[in-house]
Amino acid sequence: MTLLIAANWKMNPPPVGFDDPQSPYRPTAGLDVIVCPMTVDLRRVAASGVAVAAQAARPEASGAFTGDLSLAAAKDAGAMAVLCGHSERRQHHGETDEAVRAQVVAALTAGLMPIVCVGEKDGESREEVLKRQLAGIPDDARLAIAYEPVWAIGTGKAAAPADAQAAALLIRQVIGIGQPRILYGGSVTAQNAAAYLAEADVGGLLIGGASLKPAEFSAIIAVAKSISK
Ligand code: PGA
Repeated sequence: MTLLIAANWKMNPPPVGFDDPQSPYRPTAGLDVIVCPMTVDLRRVAASGVAVAAQAARPEASGAFTGDLSLAAAKDAGAMAVLCGHSERRQHHGETDEAVRAQVVAALTAGLMPIVCVGEKDGESREEVLKRQLAGIPDDARLAIAYEPVWAIGTGKAAAPADAQAAALLIRQVIGIGQPRILYGGSVTAQNAAAYLAEADVGGLLIGGASLKPAEFSAIIAVAKSISK
């Protein structure tokens, strides 16, 4: 399995030097690296040779959805993937499990890789939440699933690697496909990245804050390249 390292820049401009020849955001042998810039930056980052994903996109081809991006427009701008159901979209944009499912199905039809984000909030049952969020997500090996416990996102409180592994196994049981790539996300740093990637069923990382710091992201890429699965 080729590991996938996804950088979620959220509502931040591309880090200085993202398009340098030696930039850690560029494609590299033996590892899949995908960057999720703001919508306005998709085309320019893609044009620089970096693989990009949209942070969110609607399934409708066009219409009265002020401020939104369609999957077709994301693809036209150069995206090869799309985050579906990031917890910040669920929280601030009211994206429901049903809406996330529709995005996933439409993304597959459009030829984009959905990176489906799931995870429980503090105090919730991981199993209950994952089963609910994954219900109806199609059984398709082109998917990646990112387990991101909401309490770990941007907080510095990363999940234990053993919990990331337990969640990955649960996801495999629920979704019923042989080899989806399952990522861990939530306060990943250069210090803890290796411990997640060492877990048998963790096939990559979705990284927010640390992905905005080129030196730290570069260290994470080096760690991922040193691990073969
Ligand atoms: P974080 O964000 O790495 O800053 O915790 C992860 C994410 O939101 O995908």
